[in-house]
Amino acid sequence: MDTPALRGSRILGFGHHQPARILTNDELSTMVDTNDEWITTRTGIKTRRIAGPDDTVTSMAIEAGRNAIADAGLEPADIGFVIVASTTHRDRAPYTAGRVAAALGMANGPAPIDINTACSGFEYAMALADQSIRVGASDTALVIGSETLSSIADWTDRSTCVLVGDGAGAAVLGASDTAEIGPVSWGSVPHLNEAVLVTKDPEYFTQQGRSIYRWAITEAAGHARAVVEAAGMTLDDIEVFAFHQANLRIIEPLVEALGGQDKFVVRDVVESGNTSAASVPLGLSKAWSRGELPEGAATLLFGFGGGFAHAGQVVRTPVRRS
Ligand code: ACO
Repeated sequence: MDTPALRGSRILGFGHHQPARILTNDELSTMVDTNDEWITTRTGIKTRRIAGPDDTVTSMAIEAGRNAIADAGLEPADIGFVIVASTTHRDRAPYTAGRVAAALGMANGPAPIDINTACSGFEYAMALADQSIRVGASDTALVIGSETLSSIADWTDRSTCVLVGDGAGAAVLGASDTAEIGPVSWGSVPHLNEAVLVTKDPEYFTQQGRSIYRWAITEAAGHARAVVEAAGMTLDDIEVFAFHQANLRIIEPLVEALGGQDKFVVRDVVESGNTSAASVPLGLSKAWSRGELPEGAATLLFGFGGGFAHAGQVVRTPVRRS
């Protein structure tokens, strides 16, 4: 059988979309028995965006995808592969990636797939898109994380509802002579399989917060180091840290354990709350659109959560088109 020579891929652009409605800690304090001080010291979260009646996983994925394609300087018809990571998409069919391809008028009929590995979904999707380009199945890919965690929150449970937010983030990948997306390092933690659950009737997000927190501050740094080693790099080579935005009280110890005090660190959880599979691309895209994210910078992505799954890769941020 003929197989094409392996090549690499790189990020060409970022995009994101968030609902207009901002929910503050003070407003939450009028809904459940909580306060700004508890939420800020335990999680770092100050605000989150909450979907309105017209905001869905699909609508936000479409807007984030549209923005990423424009940022990459491409047209929808240039996209060969669309992959959407989400835990909160409501319909089995049509699934989100197909809807994105249709809504954006991707006339060349890209391959569309959805995946669900909860909070590490974007890093899994990124790996699949990179591998698709490497083997020549596609020349370009649109990779999206989109979530409405507010739709599965129990708004009477203070231990979970204060954490969640809604939004979408996206990246466009293109084929490259050099590999600017490093190999994925991925895996799971079977004994935490039940630690993140979405119950049925009612459909609520629940988690064993303490168990996940313990894993995150004792084990996550080792997995993040393995990601950097897989790329043949050292932590000194990394300029940007973009970890799952679950809790600032997890991000800060991870940064410290990895000696990253001088890096650009994505801390969008403060503004956006926990948006599961959307959190990493949302944080990166917001920093990119504000001109804060350095160009051509080696960036460590690391996601973890439901499954219990984790995944990461080193990627290089795009270079702005003049
Ligand atoms: N306001 C005020 N008090 C609260 C609130 C609140 N919103 N929520 C809980 N409390 C109280 C509890 O009732 C408890 O009171 P008690 O001591 O009288 O019993 C106390 O605060 C401590 O509660 P804990 O749940 O033990 O609080 P903890 O310090 O562990 O923080 C948190 C909870 C923020 C969820 C933390 O455990 C965490 O971040 N865990 C990791 C979660 C994670 O990373 N998940 C990732 C995968 S899932 C996903 O990303 C979608």
